[in-house]
Amino acid sequence: MFKPTRRDFLKQTGLGTAALLAYPPARVLGANDRVRVGMIGVGNRGQDLLDEVKAVPNVQVVAIADVYRGRFEAARKVAPGITTFDDHRPLLDRKDVDAVIVASPLHTHARHFLDTLAAGKDLYAEKTMTWSIPEAEQCLAAAHQSGRVVQIGLQWESSGALADAKRWIKDGLLGKVTQVNSWMSRNTPHGQGQWVRRVPADCTPENVNWSAFLNGRPDRPFDGFRLINWRLFWEFSGGNVTENMVHQVAWIMSALELPLPTAASMSGGVFSEKDGRQVPDTIAVTLEFPNDLIWSWQSTFSNRHYGLGEHILGSDGTIEHGWSESDMVNGEEGESIRFFPEKVNRPHGAALVGKTKDQDHMGNWIDCVRTRKTPNAPVEIGYQSAIAAHMANLAYRKKQRITLEEAKAVVPQF
Ligand SMILES: NC(=O)c1ccc[n+]([C@@H]2O[C@H](COP(=O)([O-])OP(=O)(O)OC[C@H]3O[C@@H](n4cnc5c(N)ncnc54)[C@H](O)[C@@H]3O)[C@@H](O)[C@H]2O)c1
Repeated sequence: MFKPTRRDFLKQTGLGTAALLAYPPARVLGANDRVRVGMIGVGNRGQDLLDEVKAVPNVQVVAIADVYRGRFEAARKVAPGITTFDDHRPLLDRKDVDAVIVASPLHTHARHFLDTLAAGKDLYAEKTMTWSIPEAEQCLAAAHQSGRVVQIGLQWESSGALADAKRWIKDGLLGKVTQVNSWMSRNTPHGQGQWVRRVPADCTPENVNWSAFLNGRPDRPFDGFRLINWRLFWEFSGGNVTENMVHQVAWIMSALELPLPTAASMSGGVFSEKDGRQVPDTIAVTLEFPNDLIWSWQSTFSNRHYGLGEHILGSDGTIEHGWSESDMVNGEEGESIRFFPEKVNRPHGAALVGKTKDQDHMGNWIDCVRTRKTPNAPVEIGYQSAIAAHMANLAYRKKQRITLEEAKAVVPQF
């Protein structure tokens, strides 16, 4: 019987040799030079990022690529004069594009990541960095080899709360941290599953470069529901683990300077709305880390009372980080971070409230494109958080605990 290997998988997705390329040099930009940006994938998130990058001084958006031509008009309203493509390759061929923002669906991230670097452009790549572990390894190697500036769309890496948490942890206020608990919760009206989007009337085969969307997945007739609702299906998505857990695990790994998890478990299922989705809406993940630490993450789409947050539990103190809103993009008003001493080990310690301001994640990327410094969410945290997320999903799909070594040996299946 034919047993596919990781090499077969990378060949099928067209990613086989990308990491071995010779990378062209980046254009050297002065402090006052305009940064010319292209975008791949300008759907919901892409529209937000278009607004964000337009707000950064001395940036020009020159071109966008999206397989669904219905996206072009909305983008032109924000950035008049842009050139539009229904394939990312001609955009990458353009000499007047210095840097590229990728906000396409998860299953195309590695393709867009590798092609952008191979074209000699700097990159802002939405999370999760890749759809699979072999792709994450390929992208990490390519980023290191290419020397391009890579910022991952893990915007919490630029948050003031993370700076506060790092400082308190470095100062030893928490003592030995053995457990971290995180959660995220959302809710929707009965009968309206989280994430489900209406398919626009102009989302037709004539208006969509369908084979570019499939990106190596088995060929089939045009399916507008899958194009618009790719998040619900394993072959394009990693569900809520790659949509949201990835933000929180990256934040915790950065705060505590954690290496990759040694093992993962995950249970749950499609409990909230049985609407044909494949990815679970109710989830309990446990990640095991070296040096005596476990991290748990719970998520539900049927109750939003507790919003989203983390408890970092140390022998000498606790960090409580929370958002009253579960919206990772617009929830600013609810965020808080506090430290509470454990009186048994820190009897005279004072409670603290974090006050550090957030940095502009997009502005940080553009700044690094000019200065060649390392951005706040570099490829390494993109890689680490992607591996952690994929380990959890692999454990769920195998219905058993999985170690890092076992997860790395898995050949992805669509
Ligand atoms: N950082 C954050 O807080 C945050 C928030 C939301 C979404 N995201 C991420 O942004 C990405 C996009 O999510 P979304 O909600 O905008 O999805 P979306 O479906 O609204 O947008 C994706 C766009 O990519 C286009 N596309 C599909 N295949 C393509 C291809 N091969 N080449 C070019 N364009 C292609 C689609 O037509 C669509 O317009 C995802 O990775 C998601 O996880 C990040």
